Amino acid sequence: MLVDIEKGHLLVTGGAGFMGSAFIRFVLQKTNFSGLLINLDLLTYAENIENLSSVQNDPRYRFVKGNINEKELLEQIHKEFHLDGIIHFAAETHVDRSIKNPEIFIHTNILGTYQLLEFVRAHPSIHFHHISTDEVYGSLKEEGVFTEKSPYAPNSPYSASKAASDHLVRSFGETYDLSTTLSHASNNYGPYQFPEKFIPLMILSCMEEKSLPIYGTGKNIRNWLYVEDHAEAIWNILERGKKKEVYNIGGTSELSNLDLLHSIISFYAKITGKNQEELASRITYLPDRPGHDFRYAIDGSKISHEIGWKAKHSLLEGLSKTIEWYLIHPYKKTGDYVKWIELQYAGEAT
Ligand code: DAU
Repeated sequence: MLVDIEKGHLLVTGGAGFMGSAFIRFVLQKTNFSGLLINLDLLTYAENIENLSSVQNDPRYRFVKGNINEKELLEQIHKEFHLDGIIHFAAETHVDRSIKNPEIFIHTNILGTYQLLEFVRAHPSIHFHHISTDEVYGSLKEEGVFTEKSPYAPNSPYSASKAASDHLVRSFGETYDLSTTLSHASNNYGPYQFPEKFIPLMILSCMEEKSLPIYGTGKNIRNWLYVEDHAEAIWNILERGKKKEVYNIGGTSELSNLDLLHSIISFYAKITGKNQEELASRITYLPDRPGHDFRYAIDGSKISHEIGWKAKHSLLEGLSKTIEWYLIHPYKKTGDYVKWIELQYAGEAT
């Protein structure tokens, strides 16, 4: 065991975000954990403390508002809670935003990770798990998959910042013999995701009768992972993984953006009784994303053989759960967001 997953005191950075909050809910609601989860989160635009309302009164949960870049705050947290592990989710994650304004990605993703690693260097009994992305490997053609040994070839400021943070994690593990692990996940989706990402943006745009914006031809391919499956994979890595190892975490479905959008439209029409043809007529083609990666695909054999983990949710199951969740939890500002994207590609967004 890399860290005491029964009674440990674990710091979750970015725990109010989409993936971090799914991890916290998973640990507190689906495992026998009796330790403490401390959520350190700055509550930036994509994060929402409401994501954790179902666990906020759980005696195994604490919330600290703050920045991973604050050295003294990390020391204070450790003094109070005696940390055994850090699961590092906190990051700027949206590719389009990184194209528009890369600087914050450098601060949060690179310098923030560096600060946490320096903190672990000062307290080497703490295990550090870094959440990364398959995007660091760049873009695939029609064939092939990313393995843990694939070369890094990031194409956006976002993926470059994640690649840099991965290298820092590896180097701190090797140089200072720290207990580190790293995982690269494919595209996550599910309830509570901020509607700048493809799936919630499309669901909410269906709900708000907005256009459905496709970049370029819509032929780009992604591998989709239900967020609760991702949370379980990380928990299993903490339990059964090995120090300094890297694990790729892939989903169950690989499909083009256009095919995915047609699936969303079809499920949405089925669940709500709306007219499928009318929904499809709202598909709008926008200029392509600069540096747009064509395809991501993950070879999940290492995590399956060494950890015994495989994604459980089919796309059908995951999408239905996600659409049903958004139907009862509408985000008020989605319409504005769709407009922001359209203006962005017309070069007018601020
Ligand atoms: O692969 C993991 C990565 O997946 C994560 O590391 C990133 O944080 C996450 O943002 C995601 O990156 P993508 O760029 O693949 O996700 P996004 O939801 O932005 O876009 C998915 C695909 O859909 C991509 O090919 C771009 C396209 N797209 C996206 C939006 C928002 C559209 O065609 N229209 C849109 O409006």
